[in-house]
Amino acid sequence: MIMLFRNRFLLLLALAALLAFLSLSLQFFHLIPMSAARNGASSKSRKRIMPDPVTEPPVTDPVYEALLYCNIPRVAERSMEGHAPHHFKLISVHVLIRHGDRYPLYAIPKTKRPEIDCTLMANRKPYHPKLEAFVNHMSKGSGSSFESPLNSMPLYPNHALCEMGELTQTGVVQHLQNGQLLGDIYLKKHKLLPSDWSPDQLYLETTGRSRTLQSGLALLYGFLPDFDWKKIYFRHQPSVLFCSGNCYCPVRNQYLEKEQRRQYLLRLKNSQLEQTYGEMAKIVNVPTKLLRAANPIDSMLCHFCHNVSFPCTSSGCFDMEHFKVIKMHQIEDEKERRKKRLYLGYSLLGAHPILNQTIDRMQRIAEGRKDEVFALYSAHDVTLSPVLSALGLSEARFPRFAARLIFELWQDREKPSEHSVRILYNGVDVTFHTFFCQDHHKRSSKPMCPLENLVRFVKRDMFATLDSSSTNYHDACHREGV
Ligand SMILES: *[C@@H]1O[C@H](CO)[C@@H](O)[C@H](O)[C@H]1NC(C)=O
Ligand SMILES: *[C@@H]1O[C@H](CO)[C@@H](O)[C@H](O)[C@H]1NC(C)=O
Repeated sequence: MIMLFRNRFLLLLALAALLAFLSLSLQFFHLIPMSAARNGASSKSRKRIMPDPVTEPPVTDPVYEALLYCNIPRVAERSMEGHAPHHFKLISVHVLIRHGDRYPLYAIPKTKRPEIDCTLMANRKPYHPKLEAFVNHMSKGSGSSFESPLNSMPLYPNHALCEMGELTQTGVVQHLQNGQLLGDIYLKKHKLLPSDWSPDQLYLETTGRSRTLQSGLALLYGFLPDFDWKKIYFRHQPSVLFCSGNCYCPVRNQYLEKEQRRQYLLRLKNSQLEQTYGEMAKIVNVPTKLLRAANPIDSMLCHFCHNVSFPCTSSGCFDMEHFKVIKMHQIEDEKERRKKRLYLGYSLLGAHPILNQTIDRMQRIAEGRKDEVFALYSAHDVTLSPVLSALGLSEARFPRFAARLIFELWQDREKPSEHSVRILYNGVDVTFHTFFCQDHHKRSSKPMCPLENLVRFVKRDMFATLDSSSTNYHDACHREGV
């Protein structure tokens, strides 16, 4: 009885902490748009200096970080997409997303899986006004809009007890919201697509998971409500790196192996972490190795994001302290990862094909072609993370649920042959933090980052970032000795 009481008390404490952080983060996010709006009114033409995307709280807080990761849908979101001086015209947009909130990929041994309902319901939170219309529209979708094997997948989540890895209602709402936000900016404000847009003006691609397909559809529905199914075609991407046709790269794999070795050694050094896994293994009565292999943080994050208490057995409960220790280790691991640069080596080679594909599309638009004006790649954390790192944005946070990375292409109306790019991560302009434009202001008085910088980086300079002898993908992938 006392045991039970104590557990409840601890749970309440944890919930109180969660609520405190929720309200803190709400304040944090409400304050910013207000001051941004105030500045914006008086200085519309002034060059915008964006705050650092990685402004940290004074000390790294694992609970705060976990809340950002959950990305619980909020009403007002601040975003800098679609901002440029007046004489620039937006001519193309490329969106790379991580799927929305999902059910865990792993189960914690010998515990009940969290009871989360993956059907979509208007009376459940979080809600989006387009939710019912989305379900209705999806039920009219036809297999001919999808490349095999996507055509055999459900178009929205629909299990009363979520399946492993299934997109949740939170995940759908996150991407309806993303899509609506991008539609307001790119379609309503910038008229990126004409009202009678043609099928070849969209390029849609997703990995073969239901959660990425459904996330892509939710974003697309928020972006283009009631789109014509006959104009939609989702391509299937077999590789999480989006490298199809160019995936063979032995040096990339060597970097990955070394990176995994680094990760392993760092874990061994963390005695608090080992002790925590030990305690948790005792609670579920399995060998520590087995518990660790079940990646309990993935499951615990689901409990955390859905405000469901952590699992218990007759020997005790997983608790907030366990959660904090593992989450904190993840954060420290990312810090070391940045320093050692093995992951950077992996990322530069892993992200090249998708960056190459993106600049190829941009260059064709810049030359005056009108197809593939809007591209959407629906992907995973293991897609976004290397792309961020390869661009030089390694300080950016690990991709949260429904994270979005956007490439905008702009044309200077006063000098129509000149094109510029902007890069935005979760609505924050990070263009001048990238490898290819971080020194731009020192060398140039132009307000925007030239497309050539990105092209030069992807075609050549990215290979020299680690190894000055390689100048192309093939050589960099096959050189001797990493
Ligand atoms: C979390 O769940 C508890 C009940 O289990 C509830 O009282 C509380 O309001 C919930 N918190 C949030 C943020 O939804
Ligand atoms: C880069 O893009 C070009 C043009 O589409 C293509 O021919 C080439 O195979 C691509 N290279 C890589 C390594 O992705």
